[in-house]
Amino acid sequence: MQTKLLDATGPDWQAAAQQAGQILRAGGLVALPTETVYGLGANALDEEAVARIFAVKGRPQDNPLIVHIARLEELKGLVQEIPPQALKLARAFWPGPLTIIFPKSSRIPARTTAGRADVGIRMPSHPVAREIIRQAGVPVAAPSANLSGKPSPTSAAHCVHDLMGRVEAIVDGGDCAVGIESTVLSLAGGRPVVLRPGGISPGQIGQVLGGPVEVAYAVTHPLPPGQAPASPGMKYRHYSPEAKVILVRGGREGFCRFFAARQGPDVWALAFEEDCPQLPAGRVLTYGRAGDPASQARGLFDALRRLDELGARVVYAHSPDLSGEGLGVYNRMLRAAGFEEVVL
Ligand code: TXA
Ligand code: MG
Repeated sequence: MQTKLLDATGPDWQAAAQQAGQILRAGGLVALPTETVYGLGANALDEEAVARIFAVKGRPQDNPLIVHIARLEELKGLVQEIPPQALKLARAFWPGPLTIIFPKSSRIPARTTAGRADVGIRMPSHPVAREIIRQAGVPVAAPSANLSGKPSPTSAAHCVHDLMGRVEAIVDGGDCAVGIESTVLSLAGGRPVVLRPGGISPGQIGQVLGGPVEVAYAVTHPLPPGQAPASPGMKYRHYSPEAKVILVRGGREGFCRFFAARQGPDVWALAFEEDCPQLPAGRVLTYGRAGDPASQARGLFDALRRLDELGARVVYAHSPDLSGEGLGVYNRMLRAAGFEEVVL
């Protein structure tokens, strides 16, 4: 298949969005920019188009898709009810990196939610994403636009790498501002639980709801064998470069000493910018600044992909802080590392 590359970084961005919208409406697949990561979009109401998302990504059939909307009014037809807590959160954080789980209406085909009775909905803030959804005139199902198991794409180049020749179009909307996927929140039984941490922190959600917010156990722990996850995505290996990744938690001095003692061919450090002067040049990639989780989120997936290109075999990664977006960064890195972390 010939994949169209549509440039939405310049003055013609609306024309690009219009073309992408038409392709989606006609049942095609489009890789599109959002503020979190690039999504692989299809008409969420079209079972055949949605089935192609699973096929192209190699996505497990039981992993539900997030449905994207451009305006709050579109929510009503897609869900059975809008709990007051959800409305409060939507008003506070939409458009933005928060996915809220609702009981789904019959308009959404079972294939979109992998057979689940609930559906995750999000209104992205990226102007190109919103214009594409508006032009499509339908809700857009979109998982991250990577091949299943690989780091999510945060640039059009990443999408080209994974999807060229497999989808109708790739829309370039520049680099993603957040860099990790949205926060996924369950409100089942009136109890807010973060199933996947992302750009909106549990603290921010708690402030709006005026109460505590739980973080699902599987966010920071491997699932005990045989236990069903609250969110199917939790049970799959994720964000994995080819290299073996090992997290190392400690201060700058400790991390640098630890790494210095483990030099070898194709052994790399994934560190903060400030760590660099103390690390051997040519064996270090950085993913943001120490103590700045937003910069770490922006840099992480690109760094993981580059480590593959560089042929890294073993990667010692300096563990991030856990405040704010840091929990989301840590969750992705733990999964990339298969939950292996050395605490100094
Ligand atoms: O930021 C994002 O959320 C990006 C952009 C494209 O919007 N999308 C994204 O989709 O990350 P995906 O499919 O890569 O990850 C969605 C995660 C999966 O772990 C999935 O299991 C979970 O959300 N999920 C989706 N619907 C769910 C539902 N109804 N109940 C529980 N978990 C759900
Ligand atoms: Mg994904």
